[in-house]
Amino acid sequence: MPKFFILLLTLILSVFLSAAFAAGEEKTLRGKHLEAELSCADCHGTDTPEKKASQKACKGCHEGMENEPPVIFIEENGKKHEVNPHNAHPGQMRCTLCHSIHKPSTLYCNEGCHHTFNAKVP
Ligand code: HEC
Ligand code: HEC
Ligand code: HEC
Repeated sequence: MPKFFILLLTLILSVFLSAAFAAGEEKTLRGKHLEAELSCADCHGTDTPEKKASQKACKGCHEGMENEPPVIFIEENGKKHEVNPHNAHPGQMRCTLCHSIHKPSTLYCNEGCHHTFNAKVP
């Protein structure tokens, strides 16, 4: 009997944990890419990655981001700016400065140099 309960408990726990894990995944770009049926290898070149993927992979699938229309960045004081985050004054920056894959993305412009923009980075 105790064996049965342990088995049941393990089952319940594993269902619960995988649901919690899946919910966390959706918030990251990794989740979004896996939803689009991409695999680890599409970015990492291997199905058993150990280190970071190169941004060359991003550009292979997301070409011409620098030609996208500008978006509105709103400063903390309410001032609006038309910015192309993919071709701003420093030119095209490394994708992973802003877009993280396995953790939430951050707006690199806000780190140190600048004003504080309220802009969402997917
Ligand atoms: C859309 C591209 C993409 C996909 C899909 C992806 N990764 Fe990554 N991975 C990255 C990038 C970029 C980094 C660098 C860190 C970051 O941006 O979060 C990284 C980092 C890593 C690292 C190194 C962590 C570190 O801090 O050194 C591992 C391990 C890893 N990924 C495993 C995986 C596995 C396993 C999968 C599939 C389930 C996967 N990745 C899917 C792009 C991707
Ligand atoms: C093998 C092709 C492929 C690679 C490699 C790839 N992506 Fe994607 N990416 C996709 C697809 C497909 C989608 C989902 C459809 C869409 O939004 O265009 C997507 C979606 C996105 C989105 C939009 C998510 C949203 O909220 O709409 C961002 C941002 C993104 N990718 C950034 C990256 C970055 C950064 C890298 C490199 C680390 C990368 N991608 C590598 C194919 C790829
Ligand atoms: C300075 C920060 C920054 C850098 C660097 C950056 N992005 Fe973005 N990216 C953004 C922001 C902000 C958005 C949201 C734009 C919007 O609201 O439409 C975005 C949106 C996207 C999207 C989804 C929206 C769309 O138009 O399809 C993709 C895909 C993407 N970026 C890919 C890339 C790739 C590939 C690179 C590297 C060549 C890159 N980004 C570099 C900030 C950045």
